[in-house]
Amino acid sequence: VRAKLLGLPGSLRSNSNSLAVLRGLQDALPAGISMDIRDLRLPLYEQDIDTPEAPAEVRAFRQAIADADGVVIVTPEYNYGMPGVLKNALDWASRPYGKSALNGKPVLVISNSPAFTGGVRAHQQVNDTLLAIPANLVGGAQVVIGTVGEKIRDGKLADEAVLKFALGAIGKMVAAAGK
Ligand code: FNR
Repeated sequence: VRAKLLGLPGSLRSNSNSLAVLRGLQDALPAGISMDIRDLRLPLYEQDIDTPEAPAEVRAFRQAIADADGVVIVTPEYNYGMPGVLKNALDWASRPYGKSALNGKPVLVISNSPAFTGGVRAHQQVNDTLLAIPANLVGGAQVVIGTVGEKIRDGKLADEAVLKFALGAIGKMVAAAGK
């Protein structure tokens, strides 16, 4: 197995739990699987600038998705939904229509929250958006991390049971990528 993944945190916060989840997973990946983490600091989606000369950050973002064998999205929940930052990035990634870098791309969605509910409503919204593109969503048991603050040590997800569960889902995604 040799797979290159792209990790996308749905929060721009420097001390983000979502980023910490990705960092913990990045460290725990088995040999042969690597993951780059990229923040979603992009201009606001605007169809007028969604041309072949789209902003350089957008073109680089789309290229990073195209270059990855699979994408891991870790999202928090904002007001019972996905953060605007993530929706904005998915809207950029969804275009050009019919030629999205996410089209058919294996994607694993993980949600997290300091609350017991684990961001499950945001998880559902991200799934719906990915179905519109359509990406190749990893199905089965959803990776939803509740009380995430208790599971982070030194800026990284450090809960063995959660790591094991999430790595199992990553394994499914890598298999879907044919790796
Ligand atoms: C939140 N938070 C939150 N949590 C939750 O479980 N359900 C929710 O609906 C919301 N709503 C919400 C709205 C806004 C605007 C903010 C800023 C926060 C709390 C949220 O889970 C918490 O701030 C996380 O730490 C955010 O994720 P990161 O930045 O740690 O990845």
